[in-house]
Amino acid sequence: MNNFRFDVATDVRFGKDRLDELPEVLSQFGKNVLLVYGGGSIKKNGLYDKLQTVLKEFTVTELAGVEPNPRVETVAKGAKLCQEHDIDVILAVGGGSTIDCAKVISGAALSDLETWDFVKARNYKGKTIPLVDILTLAATGSEMNRGAVISNMTTNEKLGVHGWNFLPKASFLDPSLTFSVSKYQTAAGSADIMSHLIENYFSETTGADVQDFTAEGLMRAVIKNCPIALETPDDYDARANLMWASTWALNGLTGNGKGGTWSCHPMEHELSAYYDITHGVGLAILTPRWMKFTLNADTEGKFAQFARNVWNVQESVDHLAALEGIQKLYDYFVACGIPMTLPEVGINEEKFSEMAQGAVNHSSIEKNAYVPLTAADVQAIYEDCLTPSSYL
Ligand code: NZQ
Ligand code: ZN
Repeated sequence: MNNFRFDVATDVRFGKDRLDELPEVLSQFGKNVLLVYGGGSIKKNGLYDKLQTVLKEFTVTELAGVEPNPRVETVAKGAKLCQEHDIDVILAVGGGSTIDCAKVISGAALSDLETWDFVKARNYKGKTIPLVDILTLAATGSEMNRGAVISNMTTNEKLGVHGWNFLPKASFLDPSLTFSVSKYQTAAGSADIMSHLIENYFSETTGADVQDFTAEGLMRAVIKNCPIALETPDDYDARANLMWASTWALNGLTGNGKGGTWSCHPMEHELSAYYDITHGVGLAILTPRWMKFTLNADTEGKFAQFARNVWNVQESVDHLAALEGIQKLYDYFVACGIPMTLPEVGINEEKFSEMAQGAVNHSSIEKNAYVPLTAADVQAIYEDCLTPSSYL
């Protein structure tokens, strides 16, 4: 296990009916609030109206319309609002896109850099405006981490940017706020959680049993609870388990102490940057194909561990167990209703070579991924996503 620092001091307020605690939390930072939200789901499900009452003692400026795959232009708009209205605290209400947008606003508002240059720097060490969020979709883990992902559709770039001060000061995690999430976004969010755990799990660092066994348990929790939430959207415990799994999948617990870079995320971010697809769906399509591509004599032991500990595969031969595990993951995504080929989400081979080069250019996937991948490898994985797959 490698050295690491684990410092995630987000004040988590988990559970239902806790919005009356919001004024006390926000008041620590001031009275001028920038309320950031997405395309209207909070208006449809009644949360926006509740916030009008809860926030009556505050001066609220609004930034509405944050896009899924949040755009750099929206970040710039929010940063300008913070400067013009002397914002003390940002309140992000929504999924990962809204929280990510708010994180980057919180730094860009205090920086001299032009917004896309701010993102392209990839790492921000400066001050931020404090951020509080109310999470409405279990997926990204943005509610308890320092990362954000912003898209520039003009240049077809979707880039992650980290900031030591991007970590939310407080996150309100009310599972009942996710009852209204569509089946498609519930499945996509669950695939994203699975992917974060898988990306952390398959690393060259050995001896990190705490991280790996925790990841296995979190994966089992997602595998169990996503189908329940799909069947019964207002099942509180299913939603609660998905929400808490999302937070723990990407707050450092299962990734810190392990080296190397991720594989499927850099490949997916290219798909989103060119075709604006749903992040979790792209990951679900890519992950089984990436697994098959990287399965070899060196990796089959870890893939077999994944198959046995996560999917209860009984096969004793590692290579065969590994294939069974990949098949189970694929079948699980199919059962969750996720389209499992690229053509089904409107992507054909036209931009494969450009996107494959982008994945290599925008990440260190070619150097220190679990199995290093060249642009040609990435292109082969994209090509494998054109048709349905079978591993047994
Ligand atoms: O925009 P609104 O109207 O709110 O609708 C959203 C959006 O259309 C809807 N939604 C959210 N909560 C809802 C709801 N609909 C009904 N009821 C609710 N309670 O769901 C749609 C998707 O929302 P979005 O925020 O885009 O989804 P998600 O949370 O999956 O975030 C995806 C973004 O996060 C990035 C992704 O790349 C993508 O840009 N990621 C961020 C990470 C991080 N910060 O650590 C890591 C991830 O790997 C990921 O890259
Ligand atoms: Zn993700």
